[in-house]
Amino acid sequence: MADAQDNHGGLLFPPIERIQKEAHISSFKQYEDMYKQSIEDPESFWKEIAKQFYWKSEPTGKFFDYNFDSRKGPIFIKWMEGATTNICYNALDRNIDRGLGSKIAFHWEGNNPEDGGHITFNKLYEQVCKFSNVLKSMGLKKGDRVAIYMPMIIELVVALLACARIGVIHSIVFAGFSSESLAERILDASCRAIITSDGVWRGNKLLNLKHIVDEAIIICEKRGHKVERCIVVRHLSPSDEIITEDGDGDCTTEPPAKRPSRQLKIQWSDRDSWWHKLMELQDAVCEPEWMDAEDPLFMLYTSGSTGKPKGVLHTVAGYMLYSATTFKYVFDYQPDDIYWCTADVGWITGHTYVCYGPLNNGATGIIFEGVPFYPDAGRFWQIVDKYKVTKFYTAPTAIRALMKFGDDFVTRHKRTSLKILGTVGEPINPEAWLWYYNVVGNKRCAVVDTFWQTETGGHVITPLPGATVTKPGSATFPFFGIVPALLDEEGKEITEAGKEGYLVFKQPWPGIMRTVFGNHERFETTYFKKFHGYYCTGDGAKKDADGYIWVTGRIDDMVNVSGHLLSTAEIESALVEHAAVSEAAVVSHPHKIKGECTYCFVTLKEGFSFSKDLSVELKNKVREKIGPFAQPDFVQEAPGLPKTRSGKIMRRILRKIAVGDKEVGDISTLADETVIDKLFQLRPADA
Ligand code: WT7
Repeated sequence: MADAQDNHGGLLFPPIERIQKEAHISSFKQYEDMYKQSIEDPESFWKEIAKQFYWKSEPTGKFFDYNFDSRKGPIFIKWMEGATTNICYNALDRNIDRGLGSKIAFHWEGNNPEDGGHITFNKLYEQVCKFSNVLKSMGLKKGDRVAIYMPMIIELVVALLACARIGVIHSIVFAGFSSESLAERILDASCRAIITSDGVWRGNKLLNLKHIVDEAIIICEKRGHKVERCIVVRHLSPSDEIITEDGDGDCTTEPPAKRPSRQLKIQWSDRDSWWHKLMELQDAVCEPEWMDAEDPLFMLYTSGSTGKPKGVLHTVAGYMLYSATTFKYVFDYQPDDIYWCTADVGWITGHTYVCYGPLNNGATGIIFEGVPFYPDAGRFWQIVDKYKVTKFYTAPTAIRALMKFGDDFVTRHKRTSLKILGTVGEPINPEAWLWYYNVVGNKRCAVVDTFWQTETGGHVITPLPGATVTKPGSATFPFFGIVPALLDEEGKEITEAGKEGYLVFKQPWPGIMRTVFGNHERFETTYFKKFHGYYCTGDGAKKDADGYIWVTGRIDDMVNVSGHLLSTAEIESALVEHAAVSEAAVVSHPHKIKGECTYCFVTLKEGFSFSKDLSVELKNKVREKIGPFAQPDFVQEAPGLPKTRSGKIMRRILRKIAVGDKEVGDISTLADETVIDKLFQLRPADA
């Protein structure tokens, strides 16, 4: 067992010997050498890696090319331009060709512990080819956009790989977003079709996904966009009665069985088709579309500080190289691994580390439909034992929530198969890190705190389990190809230890996003205009005296709630839609489990008065508008907001008021200082 070494009061965790022994990268020296090569000569570094993949043809121009400085011309990033390949072919055909056909690609674990299944690479290939043919039969072709709004089921992976196979750009929307948010994303990308399922159980809750999709399609129609087709997976078990209101004869009413019978009403129209019916008719072979390295692969929306979500666009070759390589080294992938990433495929973590990264390594993964607390708080560890999971990846918010239930839920399960424990989504507090390491990992597993973003495509700052001495709370060092720097407000590089600055990157790596879909200008202003010549993450960070990077969190108007980025502007615009609200200002507030939560100040219109009921209504408004995960924790009345004379809301002061800290700092620029006292008085009792 490895215990921590004391480092002047801070804890140091050297690599675990049994992990180091088998690791691809088994010393810090080896990491340093590879890192040096990766940044000094990226071309030969990634060229070597590219040899592991199948290319239909070689690059025609430069191996990579870029411009990070908008003063010199448009921002662009290109890797292996002119080369042709297909990521789905690499994930499936290539692995089958090297003898992995009968290997399990995914175990599927249902929300109900009795539900499960698996799919081999052969079978996945067959399903993907059939579904590719389904999409083709609908006239969908390279460059078209298709929205996916699905639960964590195998068909989700089939759908995404089928899109990739024929060059359709998938836009997955997490199936927890509201119909409004879904519609906004469909419209922005002009998606021609959508893939969903009838419904899904999450814990004790039955969600009617089809209904949400129907509502979204209606919103799109009202705004002039027609979604041509809707494909529906029949996912609910026969015990869940499906009753269609105006059925096409394809729907049956099944007898209620052992599970609580719930009636899920779904509507049916001409554009709807059942997935299984469509699949029956199709061939199990489909020639992939040979894609240019820089052709779009997918888009995924992330919150933007203006409130309108941005369609982050990733391209085929660079994303393929980067997702597979980070997966291989950060989780030290070994052929006998059982790998489990708990993230939903609706977020980037699911794209890269449930689907593309593992599949391109020929790994066996797990797709889990349920939630960590159902049927009880031991579910994760029960699943770990059931499948003998070796590599496990989850979020700090889940770790903190599970900690609260005590060690028993963990220790009653063996967990002896575990080797590497990953975390992602937000800074992990040392207390949670140590619990993960000591209790979940029994002091015999490596903890990797991986920092990255939807935009980065894969891990950018992360320990390597066989090489890095870790410190709880630090994401440690850059991955291969990543050149981080910390800048002060003037754009000068900070070299002094312990001083916080803006975290930026100096040069591109293959997995970096290429543009914001349909809005290249926004891409340039969001990421490249604050500091010319750098990609700006929007996060603050500092380096300690040993060179370890500590990411401290967002320094823009974004709030990270349970690892999900929310834009305060987006929440504010939901709040002002309510008849009682004239103005709203939303700030981040610390939260024990979620990391951060949102705290809303609302100014009411004449004739309205603040009440508990109104506060609940406002919380629900945000829930309906954005999605349940965005619901604010606190709403308080604000007869006035602290504004500068030019009318800018001083959020710095609001953050202080939200936590009850009277040391609000300099208020000399405020138009009216008296609002501050009033706001302190009106803080809700539970804040
Ligand atoms: C933001 C990106 C990329 C996966 C999930 C979130 C925060 C992410 C860490 C970490 C500190 C982290 C940052 C980042 N973040 N991982 N290990 N330590 N902060 O993707 O929604 O694009 O959010 O999540 O603030 O900018 P995302």
